Amino acid sequence: MMNILVLHGPNLNMLGVREPEVYGTDTLEDINRSLETAAAGRGIEMRIRQSNHEGVLVDEIQQALGWADGILINPGAYTHTSIALRDAIVAVGLPVVEVHLSDIHARETFRHHSYIEPVALRQICGHGSDSYRLGLEALIEHIGTGSEG
Ligand code: DQA
Repeated sequence: MMNILVLHGPNLNMLGVREPEVYGTDTLEDINRSLETAAAGRGIEMRIRQSNHEGVLVDEIQQALGWADGILINPGAYTHTSIALRDAIVAVGLPVVEVHLSDIHARETFRHHSYIEPVALRQICGHGSDSYRLGLEALIEHIGTGSEG
C-alpha cells in the first residue's frame, strides 16, 4: 500500500475555462480522474485536494504527516511566492514532486523561479495535464524504490 496526497493550488479549480491556450481544456475533474485511473489496482490510495488559500495548503501538507508516503503538488502561483509552502514541505520531510501544466521556464520571468523546486525530488512542467501523470509515476517510482531499498 502507498498513500499519496495530491494538492492543487490556486485557480486550478478553473481549469478548462481558464486560459485554455496556456493550460489546455482538461478540467480539474478530468485530471483527477486520470490520476485515479493511473493509481487503480496498484495499491495506491490518493487524497486529492484543491485550495485557493495558502494556509489551507500548508495545513494539508502538515496533515499528510503520518499518512502520506509522498506528495504530488501543483502549487500554482504560490510556486513563485510561497516560503510557507516550502517550509511545510521541509517540515514534514515527505518526498514531493512539483508539477505544472505550462512550461514555467518559457513564460514570464516572474514564473521562472520556484521556491518549491529546491526541496522537491523533481519538477515536471510543460506537458499540459500529462505533467500530473508523469509526476505521479516519478513519485511512485521513488517511493517504491525507497521502501524496497
Ligand atoms: C501553473 C503555472 C503557474 O505559474 C501559474 O501561476 C498557475 C499554473 C501551471 O500549472 O502551469 O497557476 O502552476
